[in-house]
Amino acid sequence: MRADAPTTGLRVLAAALDVYKRVVTVPALSPPNPVRFTGFDMTAVVREVRVEARDVVSLTLALPGGELLPSWRPGSHIDVFLPSGRQRQYSLCGDPRERRSYRIAVRRLADGEGGSREAHTLAVGDPVRIQGPRNAFTFIETAPSYLFLAAGIGITPILPMVRAAGARGRLVYLGRSRESMPFLDELPGSVDIRPDDEGATPDIAAILASARPGAAVYVCGPPAVLTAAQRCLFDLNPTASLHTERFSALPVLNGRDFDLTLARTGVTVRVGSGETALAAIRRVKSDVVYSCRQGFCGTCKIGVRSGDVEHRDRLLSDGERAGHMLTCVSRSTGGPLVLDL
Ligand code: FES
Repeated sequence: MRADAPTTGLRVLAAALDVYKRVVTVPALSPPNPVRFTGFDMTAVVREVRVEARDVVSLTLALPGGELLPSWRPGSHIDVFLPSGRQRQYSLCGDPRERRSYRIAVRRLADGEGGSREAHTLAVGDPVRIQGPRNAFTFIETAPSYLFLAAGIGITPILPMVRAAGARGRLVYLGRSRESMPFLDELPGSVDIRPDDEGATPDIAAILASARPGAAVYVCGPPAVLTAAQRCLFDLNPTASLHTERFSALPVLNGRDFDLTLARTGVTVRVGSGETALAAIRRVKSDVVYSCRQGFCGTCKIGVRSGDVEHRDRLLSDGERAGHMLTCVSRSTGGPLVLDL
């Protein structure tokens, strides 16, 4: 597919209309909610596979004819459709000035849900459908200074930001061991690299306390690191701004049990108070599609035939909520739900 083909023009128009629609119809666009805009949809080819660290490979994707790809900014991700149909989101970790390829990196999770293991089977020449790029982790280019805190594979969205920030930025990079930490050889010499096996457990509060007044603080890593940052940054530095991205599902807060019936098969599952509707559905329908598990990509949107939904997503308009729900975050208000699934 050519990036400048006529169909691309239509997609650009559709994307613009989608943005316009959201700007004029969503009542509150106040930050920090990331919003999913319609992106490009194309079939790329794997051009290079590189081992970047233990259990981490990078994949370089390009269009078959080497055409220009849509531009992107630090913090952006693409949706990757794996051969099984699984849809996963990966941060772009290459150079935004390189317009003919995208680079993503994937850590293989032995006990994960299969997406990372499947991504690791991709080989040079394999076709891969991708969508995007989209950006839910916006890099503010005008901050006076930056503190970046990346843990493990959380380095992927941070890496282009570090390059863009230049001398205004400082990166603290956490990991289990140097062998497990990708892209060490691409980082500037001033990076503070802290593998667990070379020292004490990192003190997140102490790291954040080093941010200058007014700094933009970007954190990407496991839930414990994000939670610690959210808890303590503003006590430590009230004028800083905090920007986080998580790769894992949101925890369920204040959930209640309810029954959920899949109308097409008649199967009913009980959704526990501490699990998502999506998790319960997956017990009886393993091929149900999902991606972000945080209520912003829309992949898990399903029609609701009956029941009252407590919407907890950050995507659907009021009109879309009438008759639909995002099962990765939204739940019943208490009674049973019947889904069009
Ligand atoms: S999986 Fe992304 S909104 Fe549910």
